[in-house]
Amino acid sequence: MALYAIGDLHLSLGTNKPMDVFGPGWANHVQRLEEAFSSLGEEDVTVLCGDTSWGIDLSQSLEDFRFIDRLPGKKLLVKGNHDYWWTTASKMRRFFQDNGLTTIDILHNNCHFYGDWAVCGTRGWFYEEEQSGHNEKVFNREVIRLEASLKAAGDRPILAFLHYPPLYTGYRCPEIIAKLEAYGVKDCFYGHLHGPTHRRAIEGTVGTVGYHLVSADYLRFVPKKILE
Ligand SMILES: [Fe+2]
Ligand SMILES: [Fe+2]
Repeated sequence: MALYAIGDLHLSLGTNKPMDVFGPGWANHVQRLEEAFSSLGEEDVTVLCGDTSWGIDLSQSLEDFRFIDRLPGKKLLVKGNHDYWWTTASKMRRFFQDNGLTTIDILHNNCHFYGDWAVCGTRGWFYEEEQSGHNEKVFNREVIRLEASLKAAGDRPILAFLHYPPLYTGYRCPEIIAKLEAYGVKDCFYGHLHGPTHRRAIEGTVGTVGYHLVSADYLRFVPKKILE
């Protein structure tokens, strides 16, 4: 039994969105994911850190969810900026249930437990969000969501999973970092960064939190093992 993380699967099995926009490193990425996951077992848990499916609604993403459901182990989904199919937790859970998808659940405004650990997460915030004008309401909502998830951990030690990096060369989101530190988060795993932007990712401890990039192309499509 082990806990894994990987972000940005960017699946399009029902929509056929070419992945060469992200460069040649994405060749055969679906097959490579399937191969890497084949070494996992049914007891394992993998957090998918956002940008999971290109579908614009649940029905367009169904083939992607079926693919994810066939991969071994339980999968916890965090929202990414490209997850347009995302809707309310109750609608998503009902959709998974109606379609016999039994290994997928949502990590959003809540937390899951893995052994003695709390698995917390939300989408987060990144400077790209500022391009359409800083939206204070959306930003505050993200911070509140993160805090709701961290609070749900109770006394357990926390691992946090975000889509957006809270830290990046030339960027930091002080409000998100402050929450991670206030709740004693040990490690924070994030995705979103692809191709040349990997170079600007922060890996390692900053302040009191360890930061780790887990976008799929950065991991060469092999989920990162976090806990045994
Ligand atoms: Fe993203
Ligand atoms: Fe992405």
